Amino acid sequence: MYPALQQEIETFEKRTPKSRTAHQKAMPRLPLGVASNFRIYDPYPIFVAEGSGSRLRDLDGNEYIDFNMCFGALMAGHCHPAVVRAVEERLHTGTMFGMPHALEYELAEEICQRFPVEQVRFGNSGTEVTMHAIRVARGYTGRDRIIKFEGCYHGVHDSVMVSVKPKADKWGDPKAPNKVPSSAGVPALTVENTLVAPFNDLEAVERLFQQYPNQVAAVILEPIPMNVGILMPEDGFLQGLRALCTKYGALYIFDEIKTGAKLSYGGACEYFDVKPDIVCLAKSIGGGFPLAAFAASKKIMDVIAQHKVFHAGTYNTNPLVMAAGIATFRHVLTRDNYKHIQRLSDRLVDGHDRILKDAGLTAYCIGAGANGALMLYPKPLRNYRDWTEIDIDLWKHYWFAMVNRGVLPQAHWWDEQWTIAVVHSDADVDRHLEVFADVAPQLAAAQHERSAAAVT
Ligand SMILES: Cc1ncc(COP(=O)(O)O)c(C=O)c1O
Repeated sequence: MYPALQQEIETFEKRTPKSRTAHQKAMPRLPLGVASNFRIYDPYPIFVAEGSGSRLRDLDGNEYIDFNMCFGALMAGHCHPAVVRAVEERLHTGTMFGMPHALEYELAEEICQRFPVEQVRFGNSGTEVTMHAIRVARGYTGRDRIIKFEGCYHGVHDSVMVSVKPKADKWGDPKAPNKVPSSAGVPALTVENTLVAPFNDLEAVERLFQQYPNQVAAVILEPIPMNVGILMPEDGFLQGLRALCTKYGALYIFDEIKTGAKLSYGGACEYFDVKPDIVCLAKSIGGGFPLAAFAASKKIMDVIAQHKVFHAGTYNTNPLVMAAGIATFRHVLTRDNYKHIQRLSDRLVDGHDRILKDAGLTAYCIGAGANGALMLYPKPLRNYRDWTEIDIDLWKHYWFAMVNRGVLPQAHWWDEQWTIAVVHSDADVDRHLEVFADVAPQLAAAQHERSAAAVT
C-alpha cells in the first residue's frame, strides 16, 4: 500500500471509530461481521445510523451525500415520501396474507405497460427471479444448459455462480472461457450446464450453440454488465444475441436487476430497442423494499399456468412491498424524473471528464442513465478481462479520499458504479465534482509515481 492511500485509510479510521467498534462486536455472531459478502472491506465497513433523501449518516455522525444508494437499489433515494406514505397506509391493514389481492394486478399492469412483456410473477430478490427465469426457460425449451457471460453477476443461485469473477489462472482461452465455479458448494454437475462466453463476442456465443446443439435453454446477461463497473455492449451485440437465440431456439433473458429502473423508463429493452423473451427486475423498482419480478409473453409464462414449471413464495406480493412498488412506478420512475436524472448525469460525467483532463489522470468516466463510474482504465472496457487490469490500490485511494470528504461516490469495490437518485440535486452534483477536483490531482500524482516505479 502506498503512503497517500495509507494516509486516507488512517483518516477514515480516525473519523469512524464507532463503525470499527460495531464491526468488532458483530464479528463473533456474523461471518465477516456482515450480512452479505459484498459489504465487507478493509479495514472495516462504515456502519449506518440513518438515511434520508440523498444523505446518509454513519454511527459517528459523519454525513455523506450518498451516490451508492444501496448498490443501486434506491433510485428513489432514502425514505421517498410517496413510498413511505404508501407503505404507512398499508401497515395497519395486514402485511401478509399469502392470498391474492388487488395490488398484484395493478403492479403487473405497470410493468407490462413499460416492458415488452404480457405476464408477470413477483419475488423478493434479484437472485430469486433470475433463478425462476432460468427454470421457466428450461421448462419451456426442455433443455438444461444455459449460456452466461464471463463477469456477469445474476445473484447467488447455483446455475449462475459460475465465472462471475474468475481468477486469471483459471480463465482459459479468451474466446472459449473455462466454466469456473464462483463458490464452494456449487455442484460440478450444475457448473457443467452453465456455458460461459466472453462479452461482446457473438462468434464465441454461436460456437457454443453449435457445440451443444439443441441443448441451450437460454442466454442470460446483464444488457450492460454493471458488476464490472460499467461495460457497454458494442453496437449490434444485443441485437446479434437476439438473432442467435431465435436461430437456435433458446430464450433470451435480460437480467435488468440494475438496468430495469435505472437505465430508462422502459429499461434496457427501451434503451437498446431490443425485445428479450424474459425480463428480470428488482432493486430500484421497489423504492427501498424487497421487490423483484420476472416477466415474459403469455406463451412463455403458460409453463407456469399449465403447472409445468412451479413458482411460489410465502412473501411474494406482500401488500407492503406491492404498495411500495406501485408508488415507485407512479411517483418515482416517471418520465420527468428520468429527465432530471439524465441532466444531472450529464453534468456529473462532463465534470469528471474535465477534471480528469486537468489533473492528467489516465482514466475515463462513463454514464448510462442513472448509473455512472470512474473507470481507472485507459480505454473503454470490452469484456471482463479488461476490467481486471484496473489499478485496485488507486481505486481504493479514490474511494477513501471521496468518503473522507463526505461523498460516498459508490459502493466500496471497483466493480460497482454510482447511482443518481431522483432526490439528488444540482448542489449534490456540484459537491461531488468539487470533492473529486480536490482528489483527482492526488490520484494523478500516485498514478505517475506508480507507473514510474513499475518501469524502473
Ligand atoms: C445484475 C444483477 N442481477 C442479480 C442480482 C442479485 O440481486 P439480489 O442481490 O437482490 O439477489 C444483482 C445484485 O447486485 C445484480 O446486480
